[in-house]
Order: sequence, then structure tokens, then C-alpha cells
Amino acid sequence: TQHFIVIGNPIAHSKSPSIHHAFAQQAGLAIRYARQYCPDDAESFRAVVDAFFNGGGIGANVTVPFKQIAYEYCLEDGALSDHARVAGAVNTLAQRDGKLYGDNTDGQGLVNDMQHQGWILKDKTVAIIGAGGAARGTILPLIQAGIKSLTLANRTVSKAETLVKALGEQSATVAHCPIDTCATDALTGHFDIIINATSIGLSGERLPLSEHLTCAHAYDMMYGRELPFLTHFADSGAKTSDGYGMLIGQAALSFALWTGADIDVTAARAQLT
Ligand code: ATR
Repeated sequence: TQHFIVIGNPIAHSKSPSIHHAFAQQAGLAIRYARQYCPDDAESFRAVVDAFFNGGGIGANVTVPFKQIAYEYCLEDGALSDHARVAGAVNTLAQRDGKLYGDNTDGQGLVNDMQHQGWILKDKTVAIIGAGGAARGTILPLIQAGIKSLTLANRTVSKAETLVKALGEQSATVAHCPIDTCATDALTGHFDIIINATSIGLSGERLPLSEHLTCAHAYDMMYGRELPFLTHFADSGAKTSDGYGMLIGQAALSFALWTGADIDVTAARAQLT
């Protein structure tokens, strides 16, 4: 039996164990995937990670509030994938050559989910609303998928500008894509795809969206609640998606990294709901 955990705080609500057990069943693998609570500080996080891998654990997922702490641990004492490096955050930990290895599958999980739904990214205009960790993680995977241009809109414009500058300096791939920034309420025009990567869904507030903003496809990274962002664009005929497929998609990429198994996410999703 291979052992996995998801480390977070809080962690009781995590769907990761049921998702990964469904994957294991599909792949015919014997696994145990558990929720791991951790006190909210870097020292405790490192102790939990060390104890897990020293005890023979195969892989760990990392969730709120530890993704940046995990990134720093891998930066200092291990290795990072390009996606984790550009995201500045790690959601997947493994061991490679006896060393800690950190990856970030969130952004690629989003891209894969869009492509599974038949949304085309190549040569498309994309706008992301938000400039926090969730937005940052999607930028490299979207650009690698061949989008034509990116607009990063945020309530605090300076945060979007700082992010674009930092990522452009860090990654040649990012530097090659034209990226605009603006305030969320100043985002206007038509985009092929608009993504909500803010944490606003948690507060019950609504984004100040312009009446001159339209899109063919709207994606909200949240799921499991009413999403006014999606309703807003569905009303004018856009195709919409919540972030549940992204959750399954990022998990499938973690599972593939750990076990080599190629998961049929559509079948897994059908089994889970
Ligand atoms: P995450 O890791 O989920 O991205 P974060 O780093 O705290 O979380 O970033 C939250 C994002 O949601 C930010 O882009 C934030 O905008 P600011 O940079 O201006 O703070 C955005 N956000 C949160 N609440 C918002 C609100 N009520 N209206 C508009 N944007 C909001």
C-alpha cells in the first residue's frame, strides 16, 4: 500500500482523499490517502513533511495556507518544477533521488479542464481577474497552451503590474506573451475566455464588472456554491464552468507524478458525483 497525505489548516473538509481513492481504484493501485492537519507555521510544516517522507510516504498535496511555505522548503532544501517556480507555490510534494521535489499542478489542472470541455486556448484572448496566488499559478500554463494575449485585471492594479514584471523577468515563456494590466472595473471589451481567480466568492461580494465586458467562455476557479460571476456571463450567452474540474484535474496530475498512472478524469468525475 502506497501512502499519501494532504496537508492543510483547516483540513477536515478536503475532498482530496475521495478523489485520490477513486483514481487508485481506476488504476488498480492499493493506496491510503489521509488528511493531515498541521499548525500554521513553517517549522511545523517542515516537521510534518519530514516525518511523512522518512516514514516511507510517497507523495503529499499541500493546500491553504502552506503552498508558499512548501515552495520555500523546496527552494532551500530540494528541487522545484518550472510550474512551481513560476507560481511561487507548491501543491504537490514527492521525493526524487532522496530529495524533496515540489511541483504545482493547479494551473495545468485548469488548462486541462478547459481543454476537456472543448474550450480552445490556442491563439485566444484571455483575461484573468485577480493577482494573488491563484492567478499567478495559471499564467505559465495558459501561455504554454498558446494563448494570443493575456490581460490581468485586479482591484489593486499595482499588484497585477508587479506580478507581470516579476514573472516576465523570471520566465522567457512568460516574457514572450503580451500581457496588459488594468483595474477590475476598467476591464472592457470582448475576450475569448475570462477567468475569475479572485477569492471574492468566499465573501459573498460581487466583482464590479463593466457592462462593456463580454466573453465567449467564463471560468470561475471556485465551485460548490452559487457563482454570480458565471451567472453574469451566462445571461449574455457565454459558456461557463466552475472550478470542480480544475480540482479533479490538478489531483490527476499529482497522482500521475507519484504513480505514473494516466487517469481518465471524466470517468473519475462521474464516479465522484
Ligand atoms: P489566492 O491565493 O486565492 O489568490 P490572495 O493571494 O489573497 O488569494 O488573492 C486574492 C485575490 O482576490 C486578489 O487578487 C484580491 O485583490 P487585491 O489584490 O486587490 O486584494 C482579490 N479579491 C479579494 N477580494 C476581493 C474583492 N472583494 N473585490 C475584488 N477583488 C478581490
